[in-house]
Amino acid sequence: MKKLLVFALVAVMALGLAVSASAQTYKVGVSIYQFTDNFMTLYRNEIENYFKTLETDDVKFEITMADGKNDMAEQTNQIQNFITQGMDVIILNLVQTSSADAVIDQVVAAGIPLVLINREPLAYDKDGNTLDEAYEGILNNAQVCYVGADARQSGTFQGEMGAELDNKGDINGDGKVSYIMIEGDPENIDAQYRTEFSVKALKDAGIEVECLDDQVGNWDQTKGQELCANALNIYGDKVEVVFCNNDAMALGAATAIQTAGRKVGEDIYLLGVDALEEAVQLVKDGEMTGTVLNDHIGQSHAAVDVAVKLLKGEEIQNYYWVDYVKVNKAYVDAQ
Ligand code: BGC
Repeated sequence: MKKLLVFALVAVMALGLAVSASAQTYKVGVSIYQFTDNFMTLYRNEIENYFKTLETDDVKFEITMADGKNDMAEQTNQIQNFITQGMDVIILNLVQTSSADAVIDQVVAAGIPLVLINREPLAYDKDGNTLDEAYEGILNNAQVCYVGADARQSGTFQGEMGAELDNKGDINGDGKVSYIMIEGDPENIDAQYRTEFSVKALKDAGIEVECLDDQVGNWDQTKGQELCANALNIYGDKVEVVFCNNDAMALGAATAIQTAGRKVGEDIYLLGVDALEEAVQLVKDGEMTGTVLNDHIGQSHAAVDVAVKLLKGEEIQNYYWVDYVKVNKAYVDAQ
């Protein structure tokens, strides 16, 4: 009887081993342009969380998450390491979209599927100017895709939230909206489109606009605070609207606005993008006029889902888009 039990136990253990030995582990290389970025931190954490929820007894994911440190040379090394390590799929948030060509070529030549996220490479003309056109390096490769949100929509939503105000943003009633713009990394299409389309939405609503100041804050909170403080110092009450290309810079601007003794909703308006938790709280408290949800959950899940499809050898699309959502006081109160 005892012998039988021992035999049964050994058999069960062997079976267990056989099952786990048959589990397939996929190696996933992820490189993020910069770990300290507020928005990309939420995004990359969700990539890891979501991969874990997709694991089964048979399928495991071994994720290597690398920090590009906002340095393209560093990121290029990481990609080369991913290739040497034989990654099964690569998810990439480029430091510089102008390097897309070189990177895509290398990864494709190594036969590794590639999912680009967050920073959309667009076509370039012969002088290196960005064109509003889909990028051939993505379109021409069956195993390369881009997952993102159309930044034109976020800019438009920002402008519309301004135009929807009772006074349309014209606090001093002089017939025009005087604004300052705080931009993200100017090479980044999100920054370019948000800058352009926020103002376009005001103009499309028949509003006259005046740009008092347009500065680059590189997506950074401290820089956003500094630039907004400077502009308020120089232009004072003339500033009616502060547009920030993202919430990190808007959080900085909110601090500068408070320090300058100004009051959002009364003598100034402040608009951001991302819907970071802290920014949504400020919208609730009336300290920000609005933000736009940059859906890091939707985007990270779409990126992981398509990576899994690629791992399974399934066909994919070259582009996957996730919608933005307007987040103003009416929206947060209704939640
Ligand atoms: C986000 C920014 C972020 C940037 C990084 C944008 O989509 O709105 O907050 O810094 O992506 O590339």
